[in-house]
Amino acid sequence: MNLLIMGPPGAGKGTQAEVLVKELNITHISTGDMFRAAIKEGTEMGKKAKSFMDKGELVPDEVVIGMVKERLSQPDCKQGFLLDGFPRTVEQAKALDSTLASLDIKMDGVINIVVPLEKLMARLTGRRVCKGCGASYHVLFNPPKVEGKCNTCDGELYQRSDDNEESVGTRLKAYEDNTKPLIDYYDAKGILLNVNGDQEIKKVLADIVTALKK
Ligand code: AP5
Ligand code: MG
Ligand code: ZN
Repeated sequence: MNLLIMGPPGAGKGTQAEVLVKELNITHISTGDMFRAAIKEGTEMGKKAKSFMDKGELVPDEVVIGMVKERLSQPDCKQGFLLDGFPRTVEQAKALDSTLASLDIKMDGVINIVVPLEKLMARLTGRRVCKGCGASYHVLFNPPKVEGKCNTCDGELYQRSDDNEESVGTRLKAYEDNTKPLIDYYDAKGILLNVNGDQEIKKVLADIVTALKK
């Protein structure tokens, strides 16, 4: 199954993706995670991306599109994939359409996680991420069993450099201006699945699974 998960920053894309890819045995492709890995490795692309990400701005289309094209052509995408955080602009969505067409791949569904905007700031400023496996936690809404440690890999939890009030403000605006139009874009294609993200994490997952069965 080839899927896409979208929603504003803090909607729970990463949280749901982590479980979904295991259940469906498909490959998780998160452009945010790919950039963070490139930053850690100190590559040229990582350095370029970091200057945008820390401020909460979008990385330029040409950088992101090239990276995703290359990723989709790798063998582990043949078993199916879940794109998370891409596309984020109409330009990226069009580039994705032509890339998929050239690889003869069909998109099966677009999961859109809907959360009221006023809930997102608290979700993001309280988020903690595992250095080892990338799992997302929250100090209040989804705390780890042992403070500062990941439940599954015992990795150290850290706070993302863009999870501060100023960067989150810019990210939310970037979502409104650039990414929200994609809801209509995919609705028009008849593959949009709206899911209420303003409920317990387990309930959101159950609703996604139900929506995918239809
Ligand atoms: P990216 O890493 O994709 O960040 P984002 O889109 O801002 O989304 P987040 O990862 O912040 O949110 P999420 O929906 O995954 O939420 P999570 O599950 O962690 O991108 C980062 C940056 O990279 C961008 O700003 C941009 O600069 C660049 N970039 C990436 N892709 C790009 C692209 N295509 N084009 C251009 N630039 C790009 O959950 C959040 C918190 O809420 C957690 O603490 C979690 O525990 C909690 N939570 C989750 N679900 C619930 C729930 N149901 N109830 C209560 N709490 C919940
Ligand atoms: Mg994420
Ligand atoms: Zn971990």
